[in-house]
Amino acid sequence: MGSMALILGLESSCDETAAALVDSDGTIRAHKLARQEEAHRPYGGVVPEIAARAHVEMLGPLVEAALAEAGVTLSQVDAIAATAGPGLIGGVMVGLVTGKALALAANKPLVAVNHLEGHALSPRLGAPSLTFPYLLLLVSGGHCQLLLVEGVGRYRRLATTIDDAAGEAFDKTAKLLGLGFPGGPAVEVAAARGNPKAVPLPRPLVGSGEPHFSFAGLKSAVARAVNDYSAEDLAASFQQAVVDCLVDRTRLALAITRPTALVVAGGVAANTAVRAALESLASEHGLPFVAPPLWLCTDNAAMIAWAGAERFGQGLTDPLDFPARPRWPLDPDAEKVRGAGVKA
Ligand code: KG4
Ligand code: ZN
Repeated sequence: MGSMALILGLESSCDETAAALVDSDGTIRAHKLARQEEAHRPYGGVVPEIAARAHVEMLGPLVEAALAEAGVTLSQVDAIAATAGPGLIGGVMVGLVTGKALALAANKPLVAVNHLEGHALSPRLGAPSLTFPYLLLLVSGGHCQLLLVEGVGRYRRLATTIDDAAGEAFDKTAKLLGLGFPGGPAVEVAAARGNPKAVPLPRPLVGSGEPHFSFAGLKSAVARAVNDYSAEDLAASFQQAVVDCLVDRTRLALAITRPTALVVAGGVAANTAVRAALESLASEHGLPFVAPPLWLCTDNAAMIAWAGAERFGQGLTDPLDFPARPRWPLDPDAEKVRGAGVKA
């Protein structure tokens, strides 16, 4: 293993198919991504079978395009990193089997990457000076967690959601308001034209002593108010309630840890109101605030290649019989949370 390594990353755990080439110094040599939004839109959500089929069609061409953009061949790649879970099992299998086949054909090591680890380490891709331990708020369609990132492969889960993830709440609210799919960006656009104080909505778990999250009650409250207010006012009030919950719970986590920085990742980190609120929370605590660029916050393969680079740099590679894992917690020691119907 030389000092500099070139890693090919593959991502296919949900509805984005992606391939990227990243150097171990953090240079992104190429990143390619195909969204499947149009294929799933008629169903108002991701259909696993449609997703898996699209991954099969898209991944090969995306790998070729990434190699071409970087001007390299597979033989010049040092390791192949593929998301091995958690996520929709059909999609995960497509990416992982592709990664294994490329590793076998080119005689390269495989790094099986936990998708959540990809999100957790992605901030270091753009900010190499970011040192461990940092407090990460991971907010996506499938996850809402506070993690103390202590090192590569070392994650302490401080909080998770006891019902829905924050992005899921955005998506369900968008559906209730007739704003379409995917919901998060649509709610944000509508919210910009509404009054965040117009609709009295609950702030589930705010003030509770444990830093967990809950969003199911908020979504139900939106459902009850849907005939009495405009979509804009509901979107704005909902978004404000989510922001208040995220800030309150993160504040509690900051009171019990000594991180070097507050970091946000995951699709919901694309939300401007969420970012602004977390940024002021960080400055309140005298901490740097780090948010990856928007494209790196949502699912992509550069973060998988980067997590692969971090693991490869520590000599962590995986056998070709590594299984696809629909569920794969980052912190297996974390206590099970009461009522947690936590998704993969
Ligand atoms: O990380 P991600 O791309 O996929 C996973 O869930 O792993 O996150 C997607 C989620 C969706 O729920 C989407 O609605 C939400 O992130 N999202 C947003 C915004 N952009 C994406 N939520 C709020 N505001 C946004 N601007
Ligand atoms: Zn994700």
